Amino acid sequence: MSLEGKTILVAGAAGFVPSHLSEYYLSLGAKVIGLDNFITGSPGNIEKLKENNNFKFFECNIYESIPELTEKIDYVFSLASPASPIDFSEIPLEIMRVNSEGTLKLLNLSLEKGARFLEASTSEVYGDPKEHPQKESYLGHVNPIGPRSCYDESKRFAEALTMSFHRKFALDTRIVRIFNTYGPGMRPNDGRVIPNFINQALKGEDLTVYGDGSQTRSFCYVSDLVQAIHLVMFGDDPTPFNCGNPGEVTILECAQQIIKVLNSSSKISFRDLPEDDPKKRRPDLTKLKNMSGYAPKVPFAEGIIKTAEFFKNL
Ligand SMILES: NC(=O)c1ccc[n+]([C@@H]2O[C@H](COP(=O)([O-])OP(=O)(O)OC[C@H]3O[C@@H](n4cnc5c(N)ncnc54)[C@H](O)[C@@H]3O)[C@@H](O)[C@H]2O)c1
Repeated sequence: MSLEGKTILVAGAAGFVPSHLSEYYLSLGAKVIGLDNFITGSPGNIEKLKENNNFKFFECNIYESIPELTEKIDYVFSLASPASPIDFSEIPLEIMRVNSEGTLKLLNLSLEKGARFLEASTSEVYGDPKEHPQKESYLGHVNPIGPRSCYDESKRFAEALTMSFHRKFALDTRIVRIFNTYGPGMRPNDGRVIPNFINQALKGEDLTVYGDGSQTRSFCYVSDLVQAIHLVMFGDDPTPFNCGNPGEVTILECAQQIIKVLNSSSKISFRDLPEDDPKKRRPDLTKLKNMSGYAPKVPFAEGIIKTAEFFKNL
């Protein structure tokens, strides 16, 4: 597929997932406009992108102001939001503002430009789910005042805002609900489980498992996620799609596999489970598979090795 002649705006371009998405669209020949204020992203993530003449970058806080963009824009990707549990306690208001006021600004821009808009929502909209695996029809079990609520509820709001623009203004919109994704470009001190475990394993430190490690997650390698997001953006269904990898592991198994794959001398130690930590997470991907034939390709061990290479070279 060639996207030559198309312009794509990526909000949050210096972040982990958005920088991979930007790279993918540059590889398809599109012009990419990146916006970021570096609150959780890094200049390193856009260094390579900046070598491409089709990449334009603006440093800005999208809920304060987006620079005037004179060019036509065909697709807007709303991915600017901190996404790690460590951010939930440190910058909760910034998270709520970017997912509400920031999303609103991007929706208005899409309306003005006649662009298709995609909101990067999250599996966190399901909260600590009572249904397993989670289908898009599940309405969730979210604590509106818990420590994760700044993220969960503001993403739910962003979905509602997106659907309101779709219904009221017939804006062409898409929503993806992203499940745990990992890969090169994450912050080493990001607080999410895979960078934690890999960095501990590389240093020979204990891998810290919260609780007894029986809680489960489903981890998706970033290139598979980029494909899933792409298929939703270029499909024709405005309702939410789960995106991720359905392979489910306990956190303890995940720690054991990382130690094995990286041939590390680390051991495992246990800490108290944080409040509202979801016990189970696995996407039901039937809807995305039926629409597009999507299947993730990168095996866990391969993804871990690639991610560890990135952290080793930092
Ligand atoms: N990585 C995952 O597992 C995962 C899971 C579910 C949802 N998501 C969603 O995907 C998107 C990207 O996540 P990520 O893991 O790459 O996170 P990330 O923190 O690496 O990327 C987000 C980027 O947005 C930027 N940003 C935040 N607020 C901003 C603002 N006000 N103005 C301009 N830029 C701003 C950050 O600086 C960062 O570069 C987020 O919307 C996140 O909620 C990610």
